[in-house]
Amino acid sequence: MPTLPTRSRRLAWGLGLCLSLGSAALLAQAPPPPSEAGDVPEGIQVAKPPLSDGIFPCTNCHDNKTLKPNPKRRVLTAMHTDIVLNHGPKTRWCLDCHDLNDRDKLHLVSGEKIDFTVSYRLCGQCHGSKYRDWREGVHGKRIGYWNGQKEYFLCVNCHNPHSPHFKPLKPLPPPMHPQDIQAWKGGAR
Ligand code: HEC
Ligand code: HEC
Ligand code: HEC
Ligand code: HEC
Repeated sequence: MPTLPTRSRRLAWGLGLCLSLGSAALLAQAPPPPSEAGDVPEGIQVAKPPLSDGIFPCTNCHDNKTLKPNPKRRVLTAMHTDIVLNHGPKTRWCLDCHDLNDRDKLHLVSGEKIDFTVSYRLCGQCHGSKYRDWREGVHGKRIGYWNGQKEYFLCVNCHNPHSPHFKPLKPLPPPMHPQDIQAWKGGAR
């Protein structure tokens, strides 16, 4: 769904999960043997990171020359003002996940740099049981053939890494009855 904005895509996958829980449960009965060597069982592809158009490569701006890396925890004003960090402890900062000197990468606590395509490894450090469920196809969503190539949706296809708690839906007024719309249009009130 390349035309949908990131947020609707996340929501769509979230809803998709609810609809597919039945099939996920079926899949869970016969999970492929996970390979301990890799992060996901072999023969499995991961969905594309749902990055906003134009934001990647980050190093277009974060070239470390005209824009120097700034490790100081602060309120960002010049860029990324749309990002609200609400994920775990208040002490959390951008550079716990994003690499200071290579902005096109994420990093693990060990310091190992990883690509955005394997961001589930980052999540898996702290959400171990969800990560295991995801690998086994119990949590999240995957599409493809039960005995062939499968595509896993990344954690970030459904969860906002910056503010992962699902926002409650905004209550909307109930739809208008056609008769009332007619009356309203005609000014008869
Ligand atoms: C818990 C780890 C984590 C923290 C903390 C974090 N990020 Fe991220 N951020 C990610 C991941 C993972 C992605 C990749 C999402 C994707 O693949 O679409 C991302 C994506 C982004 C993007 C691309 C957004 C887009 O619209 O596509 C920007 C910009 C960004 N982060 C900046 C920040 C800034 C600035 C902070 C601090 C205020 C921050 N991040 C804190 C994990 C984190
Ligand atoms: C259009 C230019 C632009 C792009 C593209 C961009 N950034 Fe930034 N970014 C900035 C600017 C400017 C700041 C400094 C904002 C401030 O100090 O108020 C910043 C600050 C940050 C910071 C805070 C730490 C620091 O070094 O200042 C993080 C983390 C960050 N960006 C992550 C990302 C990530 C991750 C991406 C790619 C997914 C990205 N940015 C893409 C312009 C950009
Ligand atoms: C450094 C540890 C750490 C990392 C890395 C991390 N998280 Fe979290 N996450 C937390 C903590 C702590 C909480 C808050 C737990 C709570 O509120 O119960 C949390 C909360 C969440 C929640 C909300 C849980 C709820 O009950 O609503 C989701 C979803 C989530 N994280 C997903 C992710 C995803 C996706 C990633 C990878 C992009 C990630 N996390 C990376 C530590 C982490
Ligand atoms: C297809 C969408 C989808 C994917 C992919 C996905 N999740 Fe979730 N996740 C959900 C939904 C929907 C919920 C809320 C329902 C629930 O609590 O089970 C949720 C709940 C969670 C929670 C909070 C659960 C709790 O016990 O309160 C965490 C933490 C979490 N996910 C982490 C992850 C991590 C880590 C990954 C990747 C390894 C991931 N998710 C992949 C859709 C997804």
